[in-house]
Parts: sequence; C-alpha cells; structure tokens
Amino acid sequence: MRRLSPLDHLIAQADAFVKVVSGHARSTGRPSPGGEDAEALLDDQERLLSSRLMRVNHAGEIAAQGLYQGQMVTARNPAIREQLDQASREEGDHLHWCARRVHQLGGHTSLLGPFWYMGSFGMGALAGLTGDAYSLGFIDETERQVERHLDRHLERLPKHDSVSARILEQMKQDEIEHGAHAMAMGGKPPPWPVRRLLMPVTAAVMTRTAYWI
Ligand SMILES: [Fe+2]
Ligand SMILES: [Fe+2]
Repeated sequence: MRRLSPLDHLIAQADAFVKVVSGHARSTGRPSPGGEDAEALLDDQERLLSSRLMRVNHAGEIAAQGLYQGQMVTARNPAIREQLDQASREEGDHLHWCARRVHQLGGHTSLLGPFWYMGSFGMGALAGLTGDAYSLGFIDETERQVERHLDRHLERLPKHDSVSARILEQMKQDEIEHGAHAMAMGGKPPPWPVRRLLMPVTAAVMTRTAYWI
C-alpha cells in the first residue's frame, strides 16, 4: 500500500472537515430512530425548546466528529484507528439524525459548527499524542459525560416530543458501547484535571453557547 504524504493527509482532513460542516459526514446510514409521529402535539414554546436542545446535541456530534478525526490522525495502532473510524461513522448517524430533527422542528443548526469542529479536532489530536491508552480512556470519559448530558436532556425535553427522545435514547446506547469498546481495547482513564476540569468546562461552554447560536 502506498504511504500517504503529509499533503495527502492534509487533503483528507480538509475533506472530512468540509463534509461534516456541510452536513455530508460519513455515516453507517442507519435510519433515524425518531420516526415521524407526535409532531402536531407540540405547541410553539415546546417546539422552540426542543429545537434548541437538539441544536445543542447536533453541535455535540460535530464536536464528536472533530475529536475522532483528531484522534485518528495521531493514533499509533492501526487496529485502534480502525475502531475509531467505525465509531466515528456511527457518530455520523447521530449527526444526521439531530440535523434532521432540528430542521423538522423549524430550527437551525449551530452557526459555530466549524469552530466546534476545529476546537475538538485539536483536543482529539492532543489526546492521541498522549498515547493510545490515554486516547482510548479519553473516549470512554467523553462518552460517560455525554451519557449524563443526554439523561439531562431527556428530562428537559417536552414530554410530547417522543421523536427527539427516541433519537437521544439510541444515541445514548451507542455512546455507552463506544466507551465500553474503547476500554476493552486498553483504555486508561485520563488524569483528574482533564476529567474534572478541562472536559466539563469545554462541554459547558459548547452546550450553553449552542443553545442560543
Ligand atoms: Fe454521538
Ligand atoms: Fe460516541
């Protein structure tokens, strides 16, 4: 197999970035678990709240694409890169489901998508540079924090919005599996300042900002 030059890598990364921010991220093509019913039951306030929450989740999935791409660039073990690639395609499903749901609710996706991607790409690349074990542990910790976040959103969603709820439930199941796979491949938990400070603070900045813009 031909060795890829730095220019090849740069083009591949630029391609991934453009695909994600233009709504054409790679995915596994699973249909949305949301289905179509329950639309008429939401009043304007509920619809607005749902569209904002789903915009936050869409922004989170853009960030997930950036993280995985960054980690793939710096991963050392090809088997791990393969695993990251598969997980990132499943995250691509999440991205498409959330985008579609935001639009169904009459909302728009975050205007800061490219920024979420680039910031996360940097964090993912750094995590990868610390070695495969910490990089895998970083995925597990990310997924745990995402799982708690999804639980909070499932509580906040208007009770008639079962379409969004089904999407978030499926995402949660996938995130749990991503974390478990990462640990099974030899993940080591990141140091506590990363877990308790860096990750929650960056997540809070993103979720609070994407709620509005
Ligand atoms: Fe996800
Ligand atoms: Fe995930």
